[in-house]
Amino acid sequence: MQMRRDARLAGLEGFTIEASRAKNFLAGPAMITLEPLTPENALVFKSARLCALQDAPRAFAATYQDESRLTDGDWIRRAGQWSGARSRSFLALDQGAACGIVGGFLDPQDAIRAQLVSMWVAPAHRRLGVGTQLVGAIVDWARAEKARLLRLVVTSNNQPAIRFYRRLGFTLTARIGPYRNDPLLDDLEMIRPLC
Ligand SMILES: CC(C)(COP(=O)(O)OP(=O)(O)OC[C@H]1O[C@@H](n2cnc3c(N)ncnc32)[C@H](O)[C@@H]1OP(=O)(O)O)[C@@H](O)C(=O)NCCC(=O)NCCS
Repeated sequence: MQMRRDARLAGLEGFTIEASRAKNFLAGPAMITLEPLTPENALVFKSARLCALQDAPRAFAATYQDESRLTDGDWIRRAGQWSGARSRSFLALDQGAACGIVGGFLDPQDAIRAQLVSMWVAPAHRRLGVGTQLVGAIVDWARAEKARLLRLVVTSNNQPAIRFYRRLGFTLTARIGPYRNDPLLDDLEMIRPLC
């Protein structure tokens, strides 16, 4: 495992720290923590989400143009909806500053299925395991909710994300739909069993 290799190289063998923390430790002082999204941290979420939409405009169905019009009250309401009875969302924080987001929703028609949405890690924090931690938080939540399958949609040109999700056990299905913001791109479905 990469973490163990890194730890060995740095003489850290024997430390029991997560892969991402090991990598961050080696790269610098960053300590990543995950915090559930709540109405209290909704405005931190707002700024991270607007950064995500500007940074990766083709990675999401929503656009910066649409979401930058939302009021703070809208963001606080959204935080409640995204961490409600059938949903859970997390912020990744580096010393209090948001560096990642993920959301999960139970399928309203079929509660054994859950959907992972809005996955984003800030460019300076990529390849440090932050995305893996965020997906892990949604997997844990979905399992606790008794979901058996986690699904997501990824844009057809987003090969880095497809590789990321494959690495985490997701596979592409045959389901393809039009991507709403660009007629040249498709929405691809990926799934991961949770048993
Ligand atoms: C996709 C994304 C969430 C990955 O987050 P991350 O924190 O960098 O991912 P991790 O560090 O946990 O990566 C885990 C593994 O996934 C794979 N991976 C991640 N990013 C990759 C990339 N750009 N190219 C190839 N493989 C990649 C690697 O196998 C990586 O392990 P390694 O670094 O030891 O090689 C991030 O790049 C991102 O936010 N992209 C823009 C938004 C986006 O595309 N969101 C997805 C919407 S569906």
